[in-house]
Order: sequence, then structure tokens, then C-alpha cells
Amino acid sequence: MKLPAKVKIVEVGPRDGLQNEAQIVPTAIKIELIERLADVGLRVIESTSFVSPKWVPQMGDNAAVMRGIKRHAATVYPVLTPNLQGFDAAIEAGATEVAIFGAASESFSRKNINCSIAESLKRFEPIVSAASALEIPVRGYVSCVVGCPYEGAVDPKKAAEVAKILFDMGCYEVSLGDTIGVGNPASVKRLIEACTKLLPIEKLAGHYHDTYGMAVANIYASLQMGMAVFDSSIAGLGGCPYAKGASGNVASEDVVYLLQGLDIETGIDLAKLAVVGNWISSAINRPNGAKAGRALCAKTAE
Ligand code: HMG
Ligand code: MG
Repeated sequence: MKLPAKVKIVEVGPRDGLQNEAQIVPTAIKIELIERLADVGLRVIESTSFVSPKWVPQMGDNAAVMRGIKRHAATVYPVLTPNLQGFDAAIEAGATEVAIFGAASESFSRKNINCSIAESLKRFEPIVSAASALEIPVRGYVSCVVGCPYEGAVDPKKAAEVAKILFDMGCYEVSLGDTIGVGNPASVKRLIEACTKLLPIEKLAGHYHDTYGMAVANIYASLQMGMAVFDSSIAGLGGCPYAKGASGNVASEDVVYLLQGLDIETGIDLAKLAVVGNWISSAINRPNGAKAGRALCAKTAE
């Protein structure tokens, strides 16, 4: 299959990346990160989550982040909302797009959002109706689409079923989360085959964590199947607080490097993106997890 000419990157570093940091990152750094990401051409930046601060203290400054960012006219700043309480708080803080997040594994659903898959889907319905009344787009996530930290391998059919329910509920796009990064091109291909039996590839996104170093290969396999939306995290920041040992999302710099090499348009300035990755890594005292980012910065420092 011909590769897509253009890909949309959903930058999730400020949320998926930072949520896993044990040390509280100052709100001003989070705001600067989001603004710098928009400046280098990112048009979708998942900025924070309106979850319980008891569960994820790092996201406790959600409203201050949303109120503090200077918004780029062409960029949207979605936020996670697990329930109506989170949705109301997000709207109050100025969110114009939200995401609901379910799972393909019962145990992960309980650990992550304290309810069963069926209960979570029931909980999402009022969010989607409230959002629809306000014309707020809703994105859906399915976690553990390939494997679960508690249950092991996950049946692609189960992931596809949850994706279809989210889509039918009104999500404009459903992001397939390989939360613990255990997928490989073969298992990701089986997953996409199962999902595209139920919904069109144009409505699906790949959200691949890079725990086993397979994320770029998984993106390439997904591109070959026609997928054209990928989530990634600046400098490969992150992990999931409810999936021990999982590393961050694939690094945005590595994805843009891949896409540039394949002549696929992203609208992102890779050299400037690499500088942002280096900056945030040193700002939070972490090694830069983007291989392409490190290489590009080393070259310019020569
Ligand atoms: P719960 O304890 O079952 O909630 O948590 P509850 O409704 O029983 O309420 C208990 C308390 O939480 C109450 O406060 C509520 O007010 C408060 P209290 O009376 O005890 O003082 N509360 C809230 N506070 C602020 N914002 C809210 C909210 N809701 C309730 N929205 C809940 C259920 C869903 C809230 C909790 O489990 C939670 O916050 N979970 C979030 C976990 C999380 O953020 N995980 C990481 C994001 S998902 C992810 O990373 C995966 C993804 O990247 C894709 C992938 O990689 O697979 C998306
Ligand atoms: Mg994730």
C-alpha cells in the first residue's frame, strides 16, 4: 500500500510524558514546553489531564496550565477527562477538546480509572453528550491494545471492540495505546486488521510506547496499512503511572526523522524540535530519550 503523503502528530509529552515524573515539574516549565512545541509546528498538543490529583499529583496544576498557555491560532490543546467532574473542570479552564480513555484489559481499567471497562464506557457517555452540546470534539483512547501489565497478551478483537464502542459513542478518532510498548510489527498489524474490520483506518491513531524499542518499527508497519495519525512524546518523556516499567511514548523527534526520510509531510521543523527536546530533558534533569534528537543536537554543537 502507498504510504500516506501527510501525517498528523499528536504531541502527548506535556501530559503522557510529564504525568510520570515523580518530582513535580513547575507549572511555568509545563507552559513553556507547550508554547515551544506549538512554535516548532505541532498542531495538536495534549496539554494536561483533569484527573484526580490524589491519583496523579503531577497533573494537579491542570487549570493553571490551561489558563497560562499563550495559544497558537492553528494549534489545539486537548486534555484527558475521565469523568464528568473532569470534563466540567476542563471546560471551566478553557479546554476546547477533550479525550476519554478506556482499556482493552479489565485489570488495567481497574488500576487506572478504578472501574470495569463496561462501567468506564457508561461513565464516558455523559461526557460525550455534554461535549456534543458544546461542540467540543472528543478523542478516544484504548489502552493495553497489545498487552497488559497484569493480564499479559490482549486479544486484538477485544481492543477493536472497545475502539468501535468509543467511535460509535461519538469520538472523532480513536487512539490505540500500546501502553507497555510490547507490540511489534506483526502484533500491531494483527491489531490494525482487527480494528479496521470495525472502523475505518482514517479514524484510528497509533499510540506506541517504546519500552522494547519497537515503536518506530510499529509506526512504519502502521503507515504501510494506511494509518496517518501518531501520538508521540518530546524527548520520549514518560511512562504510565499504572503500568510499572513501561517507558515513554516514542520520541517525537524520532518519528519526525522517520517521516522526513519517507518524504511524508508533518509541518514540523525537526531541528527546532530537537532543541526543545534537549531543553526539556535538562529542565527536568533527565537524559534525552530521543535518538534522532540527540544526534541532531550533537551535530550542531560540533
Ligand atoms: P475514584 O477514586 O474512583 O473517583 O477515581 P470517585 O468518583 O470515587 O471520587 C473520589 C475523589 O476523587 C473525590 O474527592 C472526587 O472529588 C475526586 P474526595 O471527595 O475524596 O476529596 N475526583 C476528581 N478530582 C479531580 N478531577 C477529577 C475527579 N474525579 C473524581 N476528574 C478517577 C476515579 C477516574 C478520578 C481516578 O481513578 C483517576 O483520576 N484516574 C486517572 C488515572 C490517570 O490519569 N492515568 C494516566 C492517564 S491514562 C494513560 O496514560 C494511558 C494513555 O496514555 C494511553 C496508553 O498509553 O495506553 C491515555
Ligand atoms: Mg500513553
